[in-house]
Amino acid sequence: VLEERHIAPLDSLLSRIPEFNDEERAVAMELAREAAGPLDATTYRARVALAEGSGDRVIGYLCFGRTPMTVDTFDLYWIATDPEVRGLGVGRALHDACVQEIAASGGGRVRIETSTREGYGATLAFYDRLGYARTGLIADFYAPGDDLVTQVFTIP
Ligand SMILES: CC(C)(COP(=O)(O)OP(=O)(O)OC[C@H]1O[C@@H](n2cnc3c(N)ncnc32)[C@H](O)[C@@H]1OP(=O)(O)O)[C@@H](O)C(=O)NCCC(=O)NCCS
Repeated sequence: VLEERHIAPLDSLLSRIPEFNDEERAVAMELAREAAGPLDATTYRARVALAEGSGDRVIGYLCFGRTPMTVDTFDLYWIATDPEVRGLGVGRALHDACVQEIAASGGGRVRIETSTREGYGATLAFYDRLGYARTGLIADFYAPGDDLVTQVFTIP
């Protein structure tokens, strides 16, 4: 669970992620600060992965929350792992933990929205691997040639 003491190491992690620009990092940190606060004041939930034996070094981050006005849908807002540990299962482990928690709170599905430009398709491929289905597309949503893709994970 993301706590106040993880905020500075998290900011440092996000600054090491080449895929995020300053604006995205600022938005991610705003959500993280909210998620680290009182649980009943926000729908945002955040989890961090810490490097073994290195105190509070944050190597992975995930933020999700119940989608307002739905019966049992959750949104996954952000997921990021340190470029140094990519491909080692940190992203999948964070996602598994998040899905378990969503299932325990009665959730039925997880929605994510991605830009087709993000990581030149790497992000879409990552979600495909995790078992997400591509359920919608809005062409040119972010910019000409940069579509919004909706992917949904159904909780087994
Ligand atoms: C996307 C991201 C979170 C993946 O994290 P990761 O720790 O490397 O993921 P994992 O090692 O757990 O990989 C999980 C699965 O996805 C696959 N995968 C990961 N990155 C992939 C890529 N670039 N292309 C294709 N498949 C990929 C892995 O092969 C693995 O498959 P498997 O478990 O079936 O063998 C990470 O690359 C990242 O932080 N990207 C930048 C931020 C971002 O774009 N976030 C998403 C939008 S908020």
